[in-house]
Amino acid sequence: MSEYAIDVEHLAKKFGDFEALKGVTLRISKGEIFGLLGPNGAGKSTTINILLNLMDPTSGRVFVEGVDMTKEPNKAKGKIGLVTQETIIEPELTAEQNLRLFGRLYHMDEKDIDKKIDFLLALAQLTEFKKVYAGNFSGGMKRRLDTVKGLIHDPEILILDEPTTGLDIQNRLRIWELLKRINKERGVTILMTTQYLEEADAVCNRIAIMDHGKVVAMGTPSQLKQSMGRGSIIEVSAEKDALATIERILKKETGREPTLQGSRVSVSVEKDPAKALGRVITAMEKGRVKFDSVSIHEPTLDDVFLKLTGSSLRDSAESGGGESNRMMRIFRGGR
Ligand SMILES: Nc1ncnc2c1ncn2[C@@H]1O[C@H](COP(=O)(O)OP(=O)(O)OP(=O)(O)O)[C@@H](O)[C@H]1O
Ligand SMILES: [Mg+2]
Repeated sequence: MSEYAIDVEHLAKKFGDFEALKGVTLRISKGEIFGLLGPNGAGKSTTINILLNLMDPTSGRVFVEGVDMTKEPNKAKGKIGLVTQETIIEPELTAEQNLRLFGRLYHMDEKDIDKKIDFLLALAQLTEFKKVYAGNFSGGMKRRLDTVKGLIHDPEILILDEPTTGLDIQNRLRIWELLKRINKERGVTILMTTQYLEEADAVCNRIAIMDHGKVVAMGTPSQLKQSMGRGSIIEVSAEKDALATIERILKKETGREPTLQGSRVSVSVEKDPAKALGRVITAMEKGRVKFDSVSIHEPTLDDVFLKLTGSSLRDSAESGGGESNRMMRIFRGGR
């Protein structure tokens, strides 16, 4: 038996001349909640599609619970439950009927399906909606039903492609809770993709950051954040014409090289960050620099992402509002 739930080696995928995956290696242990984090086009869905045998890799190997996907695809696929990027729920069927239909697609017998339905509805907190048509469900309820549907055949691994994209923060939190319960109570290994930093941070034990078809960093959320050093991040946002001056001030007052991204300039400061912040603000006031806000915060996954890729995930994915951990932000008035 393999110690890994998912073992992917040197996965490459070309579409014509375009290299969507450039040698992705992932070893996911049993019982992990593993996140593939990356912006649009990073290669998350391509990786997942290959794992699900929906697509052949150009090269590389895939093992699922020790089973070689190329040699025994059906056996490997049977170990995986899938929740696709688009919710797939039949509106004219009830919650119960939706689960039943899905169980039949897996050729399960009716008795086994019956045994699972109440359990899965309870897990999704949808018990009282068993006989209600799914067309009447809210977006969050549909997504929860869709999520537990992937567990009907008792898979060892659940793979979810962007499980909370498009949901509001309350519904997103309920999906997070549901995923943690599935993992903890059922011992199911979870592999999920996400564009949300705070989701990866809150839910996943381990994360691979993907960009342009490569894994650029891998580790627990705290390992990744610690890779930024022990300092705090000072960040100033402003309109375009002030950014160069702000970069100069940040460099002069902190002695560190700032990073410019969009309308923000940031720098990591290890020694006395609060004092450095004071110096930066004083210098900006003195130079009559127009800025929108200044903030100081502990490193987030976004800072890690920015450092590694030179671009920010915060710009490509709308934030769920969870990034304000110990962040102090000062807004400049009167603009
Ligand atoms: N069938 C295909 N033919 C050609 N190019 C493709 C195909 N599928 C994906 N690509 C390209 O491969 C790259 C990776 O796509 P992929 O769907 O894996 O990204 P992703 O990380 O899932 O992004 P998103 O967050 O937008 O879902 C993209 O540049 C995409 O345009
Ligand atoms: Mg995708």
